[in-house]
Amino acid sequence: MSLPLLEVRAALLAWFDRSGRELPWRVGPEGRRDPYRVWVSEVLLQQTQVSRGRVYFERFVRAFPTVEALASAPLEAILKAWEGCGYYARARNLHRAAGVIVREGFPTSYAGWRALPGVGPYTAAAIASLAGGEARAVNDGNVRRVLSRLHAEQRPTEPWVQARAAELLDPARPGAFNEALMDLGATVCTPRAPRCGECPVSAWCAAFQSGHPAAFPVPKLRAAVREVRAVALLLGDAREAVLERRAGTLLGGLMGLPSEVVAADETEQDALARLLDRLGATVTGKLGQVTHAMTHRRITLTVYGGEGGPARTRVAEAALSRLDHKALDLWERRQGLLLLAPA
Ligand code: ADE
Ligand code: SF4
Repeated sequence: MSLPLLEVRAALLAWFDRSGRELPWRVGPEGRRDPYRVWVSEVLLQQTQVSRGRVYFERFVRAFPTVEALASAPLEAILKAWEGCGYYARARNLHRAAGVIVREGFPTSYAGWRALPGVGPYTAAAIASLAGGEARAVNDGNVRRVLSRLHAEQRPTEPWVQARAAELLDPARPGAFNEALMDLGATVCTPRAPRCGECPVSAWCAAFQSGHPAAFPVPKLRAAVREVRAVALLLGDAREAVLERRAGTLLGGLMGLPSEVVAADETEQDALARLLDRLGATVTGKLGQVTHAMTHRRITLTVYGGEGGPARTRVAEAALSRLDHKALDLWERRQGLLLLAPA
């Protein structure tokens, strides 16, 4: 059975007009929003949840209120403002793209957005519909789940989702339609326990009629998570410490505590010896262990305190990964314990 597209579309948009979320990038007339804010928010939301994304978004646009401000800022300041958002290549691409936009103006079409660094098909469709009113359907996890349920399709492929989204898209209100599907997926048609009783499109939903809406779609098999072990050395304290620019496996590009990855054929002590040797430093004690999980990797970092080594830099001024903030917290916690301990 195929969906009555016009009715579903109208019910979805009426619901969105009543119950859509108020978010800091949703300002300005529908289909004509400020392209700068739309672009920054869509890049930010590529890998970041909306709840966290809104805080980071406010911080970022306060630091760089216009594309000119972003283009003329030093990369290091942008990485600092991006701190915590992860996937720093996105911040670097924003900087590069800002330079293009200042020279050539904001793109005015899907193809124009797609040509900028860091803007893939999903992001280009979102920006073109929200800022330009272009009829492009977005296809993200929320959209996939809602459409899979409406059609009771257990194994939706990417082309299938794209085709179902495109046929249901309202060409008169593409931006609102895209955000309506995102919001329905995020607030009503949630992964584990969809609130079908509050859903504006339940009358046409095949998964709802099946009695087992959460059975759609069937979960994809997860790619294995790679375990990475590393050792780091805190030379200094949580305010001033030796920092290095990371390269490779460990959050490449950001500043962080000097560290070495523990290779498959060595022990943690081997990696630590290599680190001490490289820095000309000695160990004073073990501070503890921190972990950091990303989509495809889980890093376990053992942190040591030490002496010697190169010059310290001010921690507050560097763009650090969350892993390094956790490592520095170990030092703070230890100071707290020392203060509590009897002399
Ligand atoms: N996720 C990605 N883009 C979004 C948007 N514009 N609103 C809400 N969630 C989103
Ligand atoms: Fe999702 Fe339930 Fe609405 Fe169907 S009726 S779209 S399963 S919330």
